Amino acid sequence: MSPAYERLAAAVARDGALIALIDTLPPRRRQPNLLFSVVRLLGGPVTDPLAFCEYLLAHWPAIAAQMRERSTQTNEAGRCAVLLPVLAALPQPLALLEVGASAGLCLYPDRYAYRYGDRTLGTGEPVLDCDLTGTAPPDRRPEVVWRAGLDLNPLDVTDPADLAWLDALIWPEHAHRRARLHAAAAIAAADPPLLVRGDLVDDLAALAARAPAGATLVVFHTSVLYYVAPERRRAFARQVQALPARWLSNDAPDVLPYDGLPACPPGGLHNVLALDGRPLAWTRPHGQGLTWFG
Ligand SMILES: C[S@@+](CC[C@H](N)C(=O)[O-])C[C@H]1O[C@@H](n2cnc3c(N)ncnc32)[C@H](O)[C@@H]1O
Repeated sequence: MSPAYERLAAAVARDGALIALIDTLPPRRRQPNLLFSVVRLLGGPVTDPLAFCEYLLAHWPAIAAQMRERSTQTNEAGRCAVLLPVLAALPQPLALLEVGASAGLCLYPDRYAYRYGDRTLGTGEPVLDCDLTGTAPPDRRPEVVWRAGLDLNPLDVTDPADLAWLDALIWPEHAHRRARLHAAAAIAAADPPLLVRGDLVDDLAALAARAPAGATLVVFHTSVLYYVAPERRRAFARQVQALPARWLSNDAPDVLPYDGLPACPPGGLHNVLALDGRPLAWTRPHGQGLTWFG
């Protein structure tokens, strides 16, 4: 999805000296997207592979320090477009609890505008575009009375340094996603969510207990569980199923035990949208498309 990063990856793969430098990092930090995003954050070149490799050699100590400290925490408000058909159909109002929330931008599905083909919902920016197949667009946005996020390292969109990192995580060609990030961040900054530092297994129940009575508690996650070890995913599933909550999952197809998924549509990586453990649809990674199971 990023020709520029594909070129950089190929250039690094051919360069033994750079690979030796990258190998000095802990295995979990030897991650292409982390490297490219750190170089973007530091103002280095990311479109010319030769200039990129020279920059790496010249600035390695600063790059390595950032790569040891940071992690990939892309926060994609666009994913709300694939959550919306389910959220809008649940009994209202909703209390939203997102695990792996990053800066919490997916906690505002009621505040964004949507365009499903020629159907629009809401006004203002950002407008989240999504191609829906096999289901009708939702006819309302949910009513959200409480929004809370849990993350190992919550980011704060009112902090310019955190916002700069979220911006750096977006691939060079994706200007539309960069504009969306800043529009969504303005919405979150005007009414910040409750963001709690913690683990999605160990700290879920305590945060869920803070949800108000009289609302449907929805525990949800998007593009999170592939960061979590398999036995911890199973522990998380047990935790969430023990809560008086609905469980909305939008994650990679192999991170939860789904039986008999239909064939994945063409077009690369997809997540599976599931409610209470029942798979419902394939979704594109940034919320740009959803294919409901027939
Ligand atoms: C790729 S980001 C996705 C953020 C957001 N859900 C979205 O879709 O835009 C994954 C997030 O999960 C968080 N995370 C990973 N493991 C976690 C854990 N065990 N407990 C809580 N958060 C975790 C990371 O810190 C990161 O912010």
